[in-house]
Amino acid sequence: RGRGRGRRKLVKFDPVKIEDVVDTTMPTISDDYQYQVLIPWGTPIEPGATAEYSGDPMKRPTSAEAALQTGLGHDGMWFFPISWRNGRYGHRDIESSTKGMLCVNHEFGTNSHALGKDMPESLEDVRLSQNVHGVSVLKIKYNYIRGWKVVKSKNSRRITANTPVNFSGPAAASELLQNPNGNIPLGTVNNCGSGPTPWGTYLTCEENFNGYFGANNEFTPTEEQDRYGLNALGFGYGWHLFDKRFDLSDEDYANEQHRFGWIVEIDPYDATKPPVKRTALGRFKHEAIAIAESSNGRIAAYMGDDQRFDYCYKYVSDQPWEQAIAEGKSPLDEGKLYVARFDEGGTGEWLELTINNPLLAARFDSQAELLIFARLASDILGATPMDRPEWTTIGKNGEVFWTCTNNSNRTETNVANPEAPNSDGHIIRTTDSDGHLGTTFTWDIYLLASSTRGTEGVFTDPDLAYADEDGRLFIGTDGGQPDGLQDQLVVIDTTKENPEPKRLLVGVSSDEITGFTMTPDRRTAFVNIQHPGNGSPSSTNFPADFDGQTIPRDCTLVITRKNGGIIGS
Ligand code: FEO
Ligand code: CA
Ligand code: CA
Ligand code: CA
Repeated sequence: RGRGRGRRKLVKFDPVKIEDVVDTTMPTISDDYQYQVLIPWGTPIEPGATAEYSGDPMKRPTSAEAALQTGLGHDGMWFFPISWRNGRYGHRDIESSTKGMLCVNHEFGTNSHALGKDMPESLEDVRLSQNVHGVSVLKIKYNYIRGWKVVKSKNSRRITANTPVNFSGPAAASELLQNPNGNIPLGTVNNCGSGPTPWGTYLTCEENFNGYFGANNEFTPTEEQDRYGLNALGFGYGWHLFDKRFDLSDEDYANEQHRFGWIVEIDPYDATKPPVKRTALGRFKHEAIAIAESSNGRIAAYMGDDQRFDYCYKYVSDQPWEQAIAEGKSPLDEGKLYVARFDEGGTGEWLELTINNPLLAARFDSQAELLIFARLASDILGATPMDRPEWTTIGKNGEVFWTCTNNSNRTETNVANPEAPNSDGHIIRTTDSDGHLGTTFTWDIYLLASSTRGTEGVFTDPDLAYADEDGRLFIGTDGGQPDGLQDQLVVIDTTKENPEPKRLLVGVSSDEITGFTMTPDRRTAFVNIQHPGNGSPSSTNFPADFDGQTIPRDCTLVITRKNGGIIGS
């Protein structure tokens, strides 16, 4: 029965049509699906938290209140079933799809969204801004009558820009991570995408950390600072005006900037464990991370550096992950870091970022310094400059999908980035030569978003990517969409010869669709509505009904198929 030599059709839902999108104050979802709003900005998490913030512009949370609630800029996330640990990785039961720890990144909130003003006027304003950033870890539970709710747990916590963190790996003891005044490492910022590990922890990725730094006094960026986009003004958060830690011209905090731009590991099941920054994975503007397990148990982590003309990276652990953990080590501390060069003819090479390479030894004193300035090391090796590599995800057959969101500044093409300028973005597919452990790979351009223009499945600016075990690829977008659409979530059946995007969800005015996770039974998905209305109440007040006044709040949508089917089917 069915088509394609008896194969079941993977994507059968009735897609949202372009003409269906009329009211952008609320999301539009396929008629075969439904959604519930969960954990909007200001949802209480930790003991002592005040009631949920309503979005009243006259009653914003204080910084102390914000530190106990969900923040802004919901981005990467992951659902960790409560039973996962006891039943071991891969074990599933009914309870595990109805109860779990949810980790959610709070990438950013602008000052106008969080504070209601463009610039902070006090340290309290800065603390409020810092406390809407970071990560939320919370326990959620499904109940047939009330749907999904946040429930109390001793392991629920808010991690903010001021939470104590540890460093680990080859650069942890580097002088470049110590400040003259000896302050301990604090906080994580601009937590963009995410990824789970096979051992049941959460990885959050620090992306545009440079934007939180500024300078109160004369400041000229070094070559390294310039390469990482550090400058006197930052993105206009003004944290440096009241918090010296973010003042690039304060010598007491000369190395604070090097403490950001890392992959950070969080244990969702144990709130007593501080987040750990894993330096072996290099310092750059980490978008997201996808871990694949090779046949011998070693892991490979695929990571993009989201900047125009920046690179694609891979990390490979030295040991099988179970062995490393059994020896009390982290599989993310000892391994090799590579950067990608895409060559003609659909081949490519993983170039190792090692101090044993004389070209790199001539520039850096140690592996630690090399990792802290991974971007400059990659420049020296001749990595391929990409069109903003965002999320990575591992497909059904071990292939890796890389979203390249766009590049308005590209004037010359290269093999892997064939459009100049690249205004719509594309998706690259790579396959490693040796089951994720190789130093070569094959690749192709899976999809040029410009090729979807003029079709019912049109989308541009691919960003979020999530592949399921059957071959469905979920793509979330971030950028002005054609044909009057808002940012959207589309589903592609990658087992078909030609990609045909089907639209599952369209967001609200000026939002972004990002973050994606499912319960183990794949009957419930979680996806984020990020920066609805760009924080302004004039075009949407989501999740509130439209009134033109209520501050719109970032939130998670819990998505289910009305017939209880697999998400994406
Ligand atoms: Fe945070 Fe590159 O998106
Ligand atoms: Ca993104
Ligand atoms: Ca983006
Ligand atoms: Ca974004």
